[in-house]
Amino acid sequence: MASRKICSWLLFMIITQTLAEDTRSVQMSLMINSKFECANTTCLPFINVFTLNIRNCQVACLAQSQCNAATFYRSTSNCELFADMLNQNGNMLVDVDTISMNVISGTRLPSKQATTSTSATSSSTSTVTSSTTTTTTTSTTTSITSSSSTTTTTSTTTSSSSTTTTTSTTSSSSSTTTSTTASTTTTTTTATTTTSSSSTTTLKSSTTLSPSTTAIPRWTITGNLNTARTTHIASTLANGSVLVAGGANGAGSLNSAEFYNPSTGTWTITGIMNAQRYYHTASTLANGLLLVAGGYSGSNLNGAELYNSSTSTWTFTGSMNIARFLHVASTLANGSVLVAGGQGINSFLNSAELYNPSIRTWTITANMSIARIYHTASTLANGLVLVVGGLGITSNPLTSAELYDPSTGTWTTTGNMNVGRGYQTASVLANGKVLVAGGYNSIGGYLNTAELY
Ligand SMILES: *[C@@H]1O[C@H](CO)[C@@H](O)[C@H](O)[C@H]1NC(C)=O
Ligand SMILES: *[C@@H]1O[C@H](CO)[C@@H](O)[C@H](O)[C@H]1NC(C)=O
Ligand SMILES: *[C@@H]1O[C@H](CO)[C@@H](O)[C@H](O)[C@H]1NC(C)=O
Ligand SMILES: *[C@@H]1O[C@H](CO)[C@@H](O)[C@H](O)[C@H]1NC(C)=O
Ligand SMILES: *[C@@H]1O[C@H](CO)[C@@H](O)[C@H](O)[C@H]1NC(C)=O
Repeated sequence: MASRKICSWLLFMIITQTLAEDTRSVQMSLMINSKFECANTTCLPFINVFTLNIRNCQVACLAQSQCNAATFYRSTSNCELFADMLNQNGNMLVDVDTISMNVISGTRLPSKQATTSTSATSSSTSTVTSSTTTTTTTSTTTSITSSSSTTTTTSTTTSSSSTTTTTSTTSSSSSTTTSTTASTTTTTTTATTTTSSSSTTTLKSSTTLSPSTTAIPRWTITGNLNTARTTHIASTLANGSVLVAGGANGAGSLNSAEFYNPSTGTWTITGIMNAQRYYHTASTLANGLLLVAGGYSGSNLNGAELYNSSTSTWTFTGSMNIARFLHVASTLANGSVLVAGGQGINSFLNSAELYNPSIRTWTITANMSIARIYHTASTLANGLVLVVGGLGITSNPLTSAELYDPSTGTWTTTGNMNVGRGYQTASVLANGKVLVAGGYNSIGGYLNTAELY
């Protein structure tokens, strides 16, 4: 009877563990010098983060339940996380700058949380690392285990090259998961395979600037942020301090916020947001409050919150009608905030909505003519909002631009840019023109072109 009880208890634990772990695998297979060929939105990365190294890119992927694959760009440290890869693995593009990785399904390990709750089974943390070999490229299998006591080794197999140098580095990183889960220590062993091609080392000699008669403006190091972060927001508060909030780093998405005091050059931690978020927007309202809206943290967020700098606290306000990230936000002359576009649950959005600070609610307004992400919005002197470029639903760079008229609540298409671009900047000049600069498109790559509206 007792053993039966234990058996059913174990079965229960196994089932709950399986449920808990179903979304998290422990292994990723590497495809060196390859990236996924992406033909439509279903295979676009759901997020781009910058990670220190490929290991942190893997951790970033494994920390997100829906992440199935990732691509790390060596030159830019860009880490693209993919949710649904379908059969993209059959369509790999050669790119010496990239390493792509797939989460290997079917091999699960108890997470630390599950291990501590089931001490009877905690010793079963062992990894079977199978090394897969593809026909043409070097294939490396990297194991990530979340048990603090287990160090996972990595086997590296090189199929064709005769000279193989294998370097193994072991490092630990602490990743704190959301408040409902315990802190997890991830030990990763990454094996790097160098094929027979010789590596050249370029020695950099420091060059002395030629003497100049005019002083060159310099950048000066100022105080460090308390938390390393990217894809956060920054807003200048009424008293001159600069508030940053949210974002992400190698450990995941952040709810922390801190402000910079220009007179002391230091950052001070302030109240934490109610939600972790990155790829959100921030808008300063006429009443002095700061509105942050949407963003991403494991899923698209529709929540919005207000920061009151006199109390240093965040309060949820009305939620957007549509959860979105990578949208744009513009403050209108009458005090309302317009958000437009961004990434929705399954698609890029053409939808737009208005936040009315006096009643603290969001109302759907007219759709843009085109769904977009990585676009820009500029409020013009005449009160219209100019939305420009970005990536369209097939990840195509957009030349299109459109104007929102707050008095009619409608969008009108306006002249196209000369070059389709996403990830660009847009700045309203003193003469009223809008300067659009740089960005990226799939044809021209990283752009140095600029144009005026
Ligand atoms: C997008 O591409 C995937 C894989 O190539 C394919 O299975 C899917 O049907 C495509 N979706 C659309 C909307 O074309
Ligand atoms: C900010 O908080 C202070 C202190 O509670 C309050 O007096 C003030 O009205 C708040 N500001 C706004 C715009 O709600
Ligand atoms: C701005 O206000 C905050 C309180 O919300 C305060 O802590 C900070 O020091 C102020 N900054 C400056 C530059 O006075
Ligand atoms: C915006 O477009 C979507 C489809 O893309 C549609 O379902 C929705 O009703 C439209 N909203 C408005 C306000 O026209
Ligand atoms: C601003 O104008 C829009 C119409 O475009 C309206 O829907 C919104 O309620 C106005 N906001 C305020 C604060 O009056």
